[in-house]
Amino acid sequence: MSSWQGLIKEYGEYLPVSNETPNLSLSEGNTPLVPLERLSKEWGVEIHVKYEGANPTGSFKDRGMVMAVAKAKEEGSKAIICASTGNTSAAAAAYGARAGLRCIVVIPEGKIAMGKLAQAVMYGAEVLEIKGNFDHALEIVRAISEVEPITLVNSVNPYRIEGQKTAAFEVCDALGQAPDVLCIPVGNAGNITAYWKGFKEYHEAKGTGLPEMRGFEAEGAAAIVRNEVISDPETIATAIRIGNPASWDKAVAAASESNGKIDFVTDEEIIHAYQTLATKEGVFAEPASAASLAGLKKQIDSGEIKQGSKVVCVLTGNGLKDPATAIDSVEVKPTQLPNEKDGFLAHLKQGVAL
Ligand code: F0G
Repeated sequence: MSSWQGLIKEYGEYLPVSNETPNLSLSEGNTPLVPLERLSKEWGVEIHVKYEGANPTGSFKDRGMVMAVAKAKEEGSKAIICASTGNTSAAAAAYGARAGLRCIVVIPEGKIAMGKLAQAVMYGAEVLEIKGNFDHALEIVRAISEVEPITLVNSVNPYRIEGQKTAAFEVCDALGQAPDVLCIPVGNAGNITAYWKGFKEYHEAKGTGLPEMRGFEAEGAAAIVRNEVISDPETIATAIRIGNPASWDKAVAAASESNGKIDFVTDEEIIHAYQTLATKEGVFAEPASAASLAGLKKQIDSGEIKQGSKVVCVLTGNGLKDPATAIDSVEVKPTQLPNEKDGFLAHLKQGVAL
């Protein structure tokens, strides 16, 4: 049995790597593409989800981070820095630890899911909180990395995009070709940029075709859709609570070149999709990830996505990252029962024959 060796080994021919590049890996990539059979039937389209929560730190960021950190190491850097709504910091901390680099992460105060914070501290990163949002944090780390010998590992680092484009390769390999439509959450807009690059490169190499790129911001952070910087972005999907996306122009280009669209979804639509995925399909992704499925539903209803289309929704992060939102989003809390079998069974039989 040959086992998966991580992105640098597996996709080296498509990546800017050489013999000097360290073979950094936590066996990232090779994530499942899961068909959603029930929802496909209900909604009249063929839906598959790319489950990026199966990556080593539980999000798609591992794909970009393995490349960014390997190149930082190759270039002799001793430290990495990033701003983050949580997942980037978890991935930077993990790969930084693996590569033996100092890792500094800057997060917005109080707006980061607990699982992500736990990861960053556990992997030994220096975690700095600012009284500001992600956009402010990104401004600070960009400025510092310009003058100090510290490598910036946000998605403005081109190696991040290189690593993340491999997800598009995997989608094409799993389906035999590109889907008709790719639905993806948009925050800082690095991932939609990476997927589009990946689809184009694979099409050039293997003739796999190109999907319509459909990206979804949260309504309270929909800078691209509204075509204005949002100084105080707000959404329950904290991962995409971003008001001035760094790769704004590239997201717009991906949508327009592919005949797709950047749209927004409301927090209500996000939470509904988040719960539907879990209860109807057994798939638990974090709220920001569910923006892709919420967007799919919105554009099926509007007629923009045609019946019968083959669609891939990118589920960017694992639901376990953010247990607080999960618990808060359901009305039915765990039922308390006596520690005794008869009372327990009586409860199970309430109104139903077993
Ligand atoms: N989904 C999740 C779970 C994310 O963590 C992010 C971004 C996105 C979607 C949006 O991706 O920024 O490439 O458009 N999280 C960043 C972070 C900002 O700091 O972890 P994008």
